Amino acid sequence: MTTAMAPGKIILVGEHAVVYGRPAIAAPVWQRVAMATIEPAAPGAGCSLHARDVDLHLRLTVAGDDEPLAVVTRLALAQLGVAQEPDWRIELHSEIPIASGLGSGAALSTALVRAIFRQLGHEAEPAQVSSLVYESERFYHGTPSGIDNTVVAYGQPIWFVKGRQIQPFTPSVPLTIAIADSGVRSPTKTTVGDVRRAWQREPARYESIFDAIGELVCTTRRAMEEGDLPALGRLFDANQTLLESLDVSSETLHRLILAARRAGALGAKLSGGGRGGNVIALVEEEVVNRVSDALYTAGAQRVIVTQIGAEAR
Ligand code: PMV
Repeated sequence: MTTAMAPGKIILVGEHAVVYGRPAIAAPVWQRVAMATIEPAAPGAGCSLHARDVDLHLRLTVAGDDEPLAVVTRLALAQLGVAQEPDWRIELHSEIPIASGLGSGAALSTALVRAIFRQLGHEAEPAQVSSLVYESERFYHGTPSGIDNTVVAYGQPIWFVKGRQIQPFTPSVPLTIAIADSGVRSPTKTTVGDVRRAWQREPARYESIFDAIGELVCTTRRAMEEGDLPALGRLFDANQTLLESLDVSSETLHRLILAARRAGALGAKLSGGGRGGNVIALVEEEVVNRVSDALYTAGAQRVIVTQIGAEAR
């Protein structure tokens, strides 16, 4: 039996502008993982995929090309030169809430690719995993920048610019982040599409917002390297204001953000595609519980507290 796992993820700063070539910073969330297990099946049984959490049961021979997990399985097998379908039973399990901006799709595909490589006696390189998973992300996102598959495959904080060499990096002090799920499901494909249409209508205005986000991401990196938490908090707030001008926030998200700030968070913003999904708040240890309680009171469905730069997996 072979197992492999992959973390959830959050985008710290730079979402949306990253689709237009500006930098972004993302980090894994090891508190929530996806797992894949492969067991040999009876000879001639073929390959089947089972994801209990979403009640998904597929046979590889008959699964369509619109099924991301089947697509990624076929791509991984092809890359390893396996022409004939193996007799495997693949079980997938995820602790990462689905469609909540924590990268559950990318994490499941990453765990799956790693398990397939391992089962065939190979250890997959992060870059290799990332490019295979990108193919399945296209199904979820339409035109993804590639940041989700990259951070999940590397499993550490990354500085990401579309099409460039990945730079993993660690903040000089661990960051404590409260991640609050708004409970509102908002497909990233929709907000990314809306921003694209708005950019096409008013390119100069949108390019200048993307430039401002890009500069903010560069300043954020310096603040992370210097361990300047108050500055980081202010940068989260400023990024939120820029995301509002892209029209990807919402009243619900704003309510959560204000609640976190009032309870003592150093800064707070939406994370990911927006209009729903998650809000992230930078907090100091002493106020974690207060901020977490305030987020629940303001309507959060779930709050996960994670440390960035301190994970050792
Ligand atoms: O919704 P999420 O967490 O998968 O994040 C999407 C990030 C965007 O920048 C909005 C899109 C992208 O492909 O980078």
